[in-house]
Amino acid sequence: MIRLGIDIGGSGIKGVPINTENGEVMGHRHRIDTPQPAYPQTVADTVAEMIAHFKWHGPVGCTMPSIVQHGVTKTASNIPQEWIGVNAEALFKSKTGLDFKVINDADAAGMGELHFGAANDHPGTVLLLTVGTGIGSALFCNGVLIPNTELGHLKMHDTIAEKYCGDRARKEQKLKWATWAERFNEYIAHLELLFSPDMFIIGGGIANKTDKYWDLLKTNAKMVPATLKNNAGIVGAAYAAREIPFTIHPH
Ligand code: BGC
Repeated sequence: MIRLGIDIGGSGIKGVPINTENGEVMGHRHRIDTPQPAYPQTVADTVAEMIAHFKWHGPVGCTMPSIVQHGVTKTASNIPQEWIGVNAEALFKSKTGLDFKVINDADAAGMGELHFGAANDHPGTVLLLTVGTGIGSALFCNGVLIPNTELGHLKMHDTIAEKYCGDRARKEQKLKWATWAERFNEYIAHLELLFSPDMFIIGGGIANKTDKYWDLLKTNAKMVPATLKNNAGIVGAAYAAREIPFTIHPH
């Protein structure tokens, strides 16, 4: 079953059709700069541009870097506040005529990695963290996702985890890798106390730099780097859209 996957990020909107049976990327990934500011209407126009690029007529899976409950974006930590309360699935459908499944970006990346990437359908409790601008999380128990966990917003010291040990925090605060790793280990220890995961998957921008810090990380659980890298969100979003029946929509 082929679905178009679209990953909406802070700087780029990326998409490609995905075979949701095996996670295979069906063609060349297309990237369009995220409009700035990324207001709902302008992002929807860019999504429509992506659909036109692929001449796509079927269901679409799409990510948003926010809590998404039943298609409605509920938070806006790294996107404009205008997104709060928007039914993103209805908005994108109104622009394109197509059926959308919209989910949180980390949940999408988690689904991609769990089924087709680093986790290889690992049983038990699996926790994926995307460490980039923010920290996103995807929590699974025996393959079932508990959506919108937002563990990057756990309180740590006087701030929240993503501002304490995210990749943007590392860059902005000019942290040495050893200092960043110490902070991240503190975060991991807290997550272990809360969830006792069997496996952590580390994704997001930081997954491209494992040579800088991997040996410094401490965990009781198995810890693996994400393997789908930049495609994890696209693959997972397409996977989430597999339940939408493929009916041809004229537009
Ligand atoms: C947002 C999450 C998102 C994560 C990664 C966080 O700031 O609250 O919804 O998954 O960033 O983009």
